[in-house]
Amino acid sequence: MKKNLGAVGVVTPLPVLIIATYDENGVADAMNVAWGGQCGPKHVALNLSPVHKTNDNLKLRKAFTVSFATADDVVESDYFGIVSAKKERDKIGKAQMHVRRAEHVDAPIIEEYPLTLECKMVELATTFLGEERVVGEIVNVVADENILNADGKIDLSKWKPIMFDSAQNYYRVVGDVVGNAFKDGSKLK
Ligand SMILES: Cc1cc2nc3c(=O)[nH]c(=O)nc-3n(C[C@H](O)[C@H](O)[C@H](O)COP(=O)(O)O)c2cc1C
Repeated sequence: MKKNLGAVGVVTPLPVLIIATYDENGVADAMNVAWGGQCGPKHVALNLSPVHKTNDNLKLRKAFTVSFATADDVVESDYFGIVSAKKERDKIGKAQMHVRRAEHVDAPIIEEYPLTLECKMVELATTFLGEERVVGEIVNVVADENILNADGKIDLSKWKPIMFDSAQNYYRVVGDVVGNAFKDGSKLK
């Protein structure tokens, strides 16, 4: 028996992206974003309500980094989503995390996150909902060696990225391998 749940946004998995930017004084900010993802081989898209400090920083610096929350930094990552830099100027310091300048873009890298994309903003548009759609071009990826496998590929079981479960407001670890992409479907050819 199926049940209608009404118009609820339950697309899953939603990521837990941590967007880091510099403000007008060079202070680093971080924000938690679930409504975003990869939208091309080298591009990411973010949907932002226009009220955040991050939006101001993006317009100023035209660059950002994307890190991915993990099971080891749930408290800090959630904090970045519930407090604005408009109220707490140094959110990253308050979370006892550390930043360094990205090598390829005018944005900070938060050292504690194991994987970070350096992005330059290539598009900023206002959507029909009045939100801001940001597209970034990935110009470099920085990874901790300890999340890579012997072939130098990113190993999710070492990385432990989390997803946002919007149905119940949980963070969940991204799970087990259950198949092979571009291969398993061949059984039905
Ligand atoms: C799990 C989670 C997901 C969020 N996703 C988004 C999002 O996709 N877009 C958005 O505009 N705000 C989102 N937020 C809210 C911002 O992260 C929050 O308002 C933050 O304080 C903005 O920080 P800033 O003002 O320092 O930029 C999310 C918050 C949480 C906790």
